[in-house]
Amino acid sequence: MNKTDIVISVKDLTVSFGSFKAVDGVSFDVHRGEIFGFLGANGAGKTTTIRTICGILNPSAGSVTVDGQDVSRSTAVLKPRIGYMSQKFTLYPDLTVHENMRFAGSLYAMSPKQIDERSRKLMEFIGLPQNLPDPVSHLSGGVKQMAALASALLHDPELVFLDEPTAGTSPQTRAAFWALIRRLAEMGKTVFVTTHYMDEAEYCGRIALMERGKIIALGTPQELKEEFFPVKPLEISFSATVQHELREALKQAGIVSAVFGNNLRVRASDRAVLDRACAPFAGQFDVREVPPTLEDVFLQAVSGRENK
Ligand SMILES: Nc1ncnc2c1ncn2[C@@H]1O[C@H](COP(=O)(O)OP(=O)(O)OP(=O)(O)O)[C@@H](O)[C@H]1O
Ligand SMILES: [Mg+2]
Repeated sequence: MNKTDIVISVKDLTVSFGSFKAVDGVSFDVHRGEIFGFLGANGAGKTTTIRTICGILNPSAGSVTVDGQDVSRSTAVLKPRIGYMSQKFTLYPDLTVHENMRFAGSLYAMSPKQIDERSRKLMEFIGLPQNLPDPVSHLSGGVKQMAALASALLHDPELVFLDEPTAGTSPQTRAAFWALIRRLAEMGKTVFVTTHYMDEAEYCGRIALMERGKIIALGTPQELKEEFFPVKPLEISFSATVQHELREALKQAGIVSAVFGNNLRVRASDRAVLDRACAPFAGQFDVREVPPTLEDVFLQAVSGRENK
């Protein structure tokens, strides 16, 4: 990636509420056309970062630029380029989807004709029926989220911010949503998305893990797995007969285990510790390497910081 591919540049960003730093000295770049994922526990500072990039909040320190323009000083210029689907549902529940579109479009000075044309195309793109007669409050959770996406895309922004767009929706809706996110990126849009679902994070080009206002890891899913698991995690299964004693032995060795069906499974990255704990049960267990998941990476990154 060369420098001209950078569209959003966040440098030493701090956002404080009183004396509390919700975002604490964060720096990262987002490349044009990528799907950039933002992960982190509740309260990590994801939404606050997004709202600052979108120009809704001002940095307390540091800067955010879009194509070199300072966001806090160029809000009017940048507004048409940014689409923001808020974590909090923002469509009007008493209006239909189309009435919501009419309203959203008016905020971007679009004419009713422009809004109707664009809205028709978007419904087709998203797979929603045209002119749903019901007020938004009567729609299912998945359709509501899709309608909120349509509203965020109405003015055809090139930077699309989706804050937990799939939270609380069905697996089918999540899959459909991610198919749309991929198509948006293929169309050249830059997508900045937050999620709590680790399987969704796998679909991102790069991801940033945020923890208590700081970015604790950043890279492609593959890079993060290699960084945090230079040695692959191990998973072991035991026969049920020795389950109880083995769990106890593992616990003593500081290895957390879980029961799955008739097997006991653990994940450990230190083979020597595992071997020592299992030694008394020779012949009654099976050890294999497993590929790390992003969930493993996330837990490892967070526990790594806690142990510092
Ligand atoms: N306007 C505000 N005033 C005071 N504190 C705030 C405000 N907005 C956010 N915070 C606090 O800042 C921290 C970060 O919040 P933020 O909403 O950015 O987290 P998040 O990572 O998006 O969490 P979630 O996954 O729950 O959406 C939290 O402790 C939150 O309570
Ligand atoms: Mg949030």
